[in-house]
Amino acid sequence: MINTNLENVVYNNETHRLNLSNIGIDELLSNLDRPLSVILQITRNCHFNCEFCSEKDQMPDPSLDELSLYESHLKDVPRIFLSGGEPLTRNDFKEIVDIFSKKHILGLPTNAVASEKNIKVIKDNHISVNVGLDGPRAITSRVRGDYDFIMKGVREFIKNDIPFSLTAVVLRSTLDSILYTCQMADALGAKKMKFVLPIPKGNALNLDKCEYITEEEALSVCDRIAEAKEKFDWKTVFTFSIWNENTNGYSILVYPNGKTYAWPALDYQDKVLLLGDLHTDTIEEIWERYPYKFNHINKYLGNGVKII
Ligand SMILES: C[S@@+](CC[C@H](N)C(=O)[O-])C[C@H]1O[C@@H](n2cnc3c(N)ncnc32)[C@H](O)[C@@H]1O
Ligand code: SF4
Repeated sequence: MINTNLENVVYNNETHRLNLSNIGIDELLSNLDRPLSVILQITRNCHFNCEFCSEKDQMPDPSLDELSLYESHLKDVPRIFLSGGEPLTRNDFKEIVDIFSKKHILGLPTNAVASEKNIKVIKDNHISVNVGLDGPRAITSRVRGDYDFIMKGVREFIKNDIPFSLTAVVLRSTLDSILYTCQMADALGAKKMKFVLPIPKGNALNLDKCEYITEEEALSVCDRIAEAKEKFDWKTVFTFSIWNENTNGYSILVYPNGKTYAWPALDYQDKVLLLGDLHTDTIEEIWERYPYKFNHINKYLGNGVKII
């Protein structure tokens, strides 16, 4: 266990989760003066052009000086996800980790293509890794990018004993293979597999309308996964994120240019609600303006998403 800077918020190094089991939502709502986690986009560059990618609009990378400024304004946020675009396209990834790793627990959502050259910095800094994998070869290569490159990256994490989880964006055209995807996650030894419905932004706006399944359909898929999990004794924990009033705005997302948003804010343009700019605003000021505190905290109490 690592004690975070926030009293009572403990990070479990095994499960890669913030442990809040002894704290109620009311206590957290009245005592927290900043978020439990922030997603920071360190680039918009990427090797892939996933069919559903929400983050394809390009903008310049923040410099190391800008990232240091952002870090100073993110003081005492327990966990920061270094995201993108593809974070491992940054040649100065190690220097970026050096800026953030002393004071925050780091998470890395990645397509894993550049995992080999970054393995040491990931391992040395106990960074929890989340790899995008949308199913078997034909499915992943169609909707995301080269399956074999991704799997090569995943094998690097396994070889180096780096715990990882997986994320799949669920489309109607990938639904048929979802139990195979669960089996893959279990066989690869993923601690967690997150299924998420596509948020209509970026490339996802060009998806055929029928690719978006309904909440009702998603819940019935959860039932199928739960049944199969028991039958096949899968050890992986599966979660399913459905976008509704319980998950609305539950993350805080920083663009490369420092603009900071509630995400996904379902009623707003581009599904983001502007809260501030990390060049000038502290995370406490941004938190004050954040209208989705309940959903943010509820997610960490395991109530926002379906857990299987
Ligand atoms: C934008 S990506 C950036 C990190 C990295 N390139 C990756 O793909 O994991 C972060 C996560 O968002 C997911 N994602 C991308 N577009 C999405 C969308 N429209 N709706 C929901 N999730 C999406 C990806 O699958 C990935 O798990
Ligand atoms: S989802 Fe990730 S891997 Fe796919 S295009 Fe977007 S940033 Fe790249």
